[in-house]
Amino acid sequence: MTNRIIVKYEQKPCYTIAFETSFDKLIEELEKIYNLSEKKICVVSDTNVYKLYGEEVVSILKSKAKVVTDFVFEAGETSKNLNTVKKLYEKLICDKFDRKDVLVALGGGVVGDLTGFAAATYLRGIDFVQVPTTLLSQVDSSIGGKTGVDFDSYKNMVGAFYQPKLVYANIKTFDTLSLRQFKSGMGEVIKHAFIKRKDQFDYLKENSVKILEEHDGDILTQMVYESCLVKKEVVERDPKEKGERALLNFGHTVGHAVEKLANFELYHGECVIIGVMAALYISYKRGNITISEFRDAYRLITEDYKFSLQIPNIDSKEVLNVTKSDKKMENGKIKFILLKSIGEAYIDTTVTDEEILESIDVIKKNDWSFLNE
Ligand SMILES: NC(=O)c1ccc[n+]([C@@H]2O[C@H](COP(=O)([O-])OP(=O)(O)OC[C@H]3O[C@@H](n4cnc5c(N)ncnc54)[C@H](O)[C@@H]3O)[C@@H](O)[C@H]2O)c1
Ligand SMILES: [Zn+2]
Repeated sequence: MTNRIIVKYEQKPCYTIAFETSFDKLIEELEKIYNLSEKKICVVSDTNVYKLYGEEVVSILKSKAKVVTDFVFEAGETSKNLNTVKKLYEKLICDKFDRKDVLVALGGGVVGDLTGFAAATYLRGIDFVQVPTTLLSQVDSSIGGKTGVDFDSYKNMVGAFYQPKLVYANIKTFDTLSLRQFKSGMGEVIKHAFIKRKDQFDYLKENSVKILEEHDGDILTQMVYESCLVKKEVVERDPKEKGERALLNFGHTVGHAVEKLANFELYHGECVIIGVMAALYISYKRGNITISEFRDAYRLITEDYKFSLQIPNIDSKEVLNVTKSDKKMENGKIKFILLKSIGEAYIDTTVTDEEILESIDVIKKNDWSFLNE
């Protein structure tokens, strides 16, 4: 199996995504792009990830790089803000990092987004490398160049499009991830299959036990690789979200609203899956997907991957209102992503309030008996 993907922008190779089962090849990959003996590297990580992998990664880098420092911040979304970025700038200035030097983001999406933003802005841009350690960050946030931080209560409000120089995904890091965090990442993997790849949907169905319970290394590597391919192809064609990239928001329109209203008690992927169910329901009611496709999708989500679809005690109308205040609107209309079939998504701006309300009500009622009729 091939274990490298090259992401290209304007037909030019931009960066490699490497899939490995250890950190052993990190130096080899970095030496393809840098003369490490000239480089200062700052490993940016959070408290949880640094405890698990920080020492190993720092010592590997120290074997070749001129200087290796680290910057570790408190784990969690609440650290993804300008205050943490400020502390990182201070550290880089203190250690005299210049434009030739490199940041390495070792962690999940929070570390990747924050480090990418600091790299985009420090001295008007220095290089950074992503070493994603959650499933969500390997298949989603580390690819595509969206970086940023939250501002007050606004998620990802301040940021930049800025590409990494390398993404190095060590699938073994999933071994220490909680099942709930792993499943949250599965939300995005399932989303990628729905929007572009019926064959991946079938693969996820066939291999659910090996993926969820056994953490089979080969199957996981294949799954992460194929899922990254979907994201890569979309972002290459539409790097700045002018069109097709919106397809990646499948499940996110309603999902983001639920995430916000649940006060971020639910994980991102859990909310995305609720949003995916809403979008599937609307696609079914419109006659785009058949009842049998809808049933297959429902079973994959709730039986094979055991998502509960519980929406906390939130009024459906509130979900609708927050959905409509989301930033992804076009001329006052919600840009909703629906399916034509499993593996084929499209952008629709005609979804009505009633359709959205009905889809949320169905999920809240949690009565899926109509699927067996
Ligand atoms: N840039 C993008 O395109 C993009 C896309 C999707 C999501 N995001 C962002 O990504 C963030 C969510 O990412 P996430 O789900 O990876 O969250 P996260 O980075 O907060 O990681 C989740 C938790 O798992 C811990 N952790 C990470 N790796 C671990 C490991 N291997 N073993 C044990 N614990 C580990 C972390 O310390 C954290 O507590 C959000 O801020 C979201 O906005 C960005
Ligand atoms: Zn997402």
